[in-house]
Amino acid sequence: MKYYNIVNGPMNVSAIIQGCMRMPSLSKEDAAAVIRTAFDCGINFFDHATCYGYGEAETRFAEAFPLTGLRRQDIYIQSKCGICPERREFDWTKEYILSAVDGILQRLNTDYLDMLLLHRPDLLFDPAEVADAFQMLKITGKVRWFGVSNLMPMQIELLKKYAKVPLIFNQVQLSLEQSQLIDQAFYMNNKTTDMSISRDGSLLDYCRLNDITVQAWSPLQVGMFGGTFIDNPDFADLNTVLGKIAEREGVTKAAVALAWILRHPAKMQTVIGTMNPRHIQEACEAARVTLSHHDWYALYLASGKFLP
Ligand SMILES: NC(=O)c1ccc[n+]([C@@H]2O[C@H](COP(=O)([O-])OP(=O)(O)OC[C@H]3O[C@@H](n4cnc5c(N)ncnc54)[C@H](OP(=O)(O)O)[C@@H]3O)[C@@H](O)[C@H]2O)c1
Repeated sequence: MKYYNIVNGPMNVSAIIQGCMRMPSLSKEDAAAVIRTAFDCGINFFDHATCYGYGEAETRFAEAFPLTGLRRQDIYIQSKCGICPERREFDWTKEYILSAVDGILQRLNTDYLDMLLLHRPDLLFDPAEVADAFQMLKITGKVRWFGVSNLMPMQIELLKKYAKVPLIFNQVQLSLEQSQLIDQAFYMNNKTTDMSISRDGSLLDYCRLNDITVQAWSPLQVGMFGGTFIDNPDFADLNTVLGKIAEREGVTKAAVALAWILRHPAKMQTVIGTMNPRHIQEACEAARVTLSHHDWYALYLASGKFLP
């Protein structure tokens, strides 16, 4: 496994994060196997959100954790709040954030959360209110570090103007298939393709300039919920190149797709979602693969993109 020391944040966090969005469908024994397998493969960072199974992911994790033989301090637990599916709105009010964290701690059966991310932007947010909520959570020891998810640079700047705690993570979608985070930089000022449209305000460069670690979610998905591109006949060229590199490196195609994200010099983490212990083990092999400069471009092009 690769580990990073986060500026103004935690030390030795694993480059691969185990996402728990799909955990609600598991028994507590199977959930324990997921947590233990991930940990044994070097993953020390687990990602949750209040909306995953309407809190059920956090509950199942807490039920399973005692079966793993791990101690709370062995791992980093991150959760996110702000998406309220039952109300069909996003909420970043102080009152909501504080009560959401109490709910998270209760469901996870823990005294503290290592990281809290605000999940998706509430366009009615008042940055001073968010800053107050973060400050209270920090002072009371309920949350150690803070960040955001799916946020644009200027929204982060607005938060930073008021926040008294550093914002150190931004969790956004990135995969070989959903590569918008990097596409636009290739095509800037190009009228012939939609690839030149800035969809995120140069978010990746902004995060690098501001010591914000990007956490790439859904690294193997097509779209948001389209299934994986691994062994998917709709992505034949990509699978051919993934397969060749996988064979050369003695790993799976999924590991190569993750290694493509880890190869980027931004030192991004990536959040995997499989609940299959064998797939977790295979995914973690990504950390021992260092793709060449040429491999990285070959994979990008095989995913259906082109260079100007
Ligand atoms: N911040 C946000 O807005 C946001 C949004 C979505 C997700 N997330 C986070 O990102 C995490 C990952 O999301 P995700 O589950 O969509 O990501 P993912 O890891 O890209 O996709 C998981 C899917 O890939 C399949 N897969 C994994 N390894 C495979 C392999 N070797 N061969 C074939 N298929 C394989 C899995 O199937 P199997 O189960 O069969 O292995 C599963 O269907 C979530 O748990 C959550 O923590 C964050």
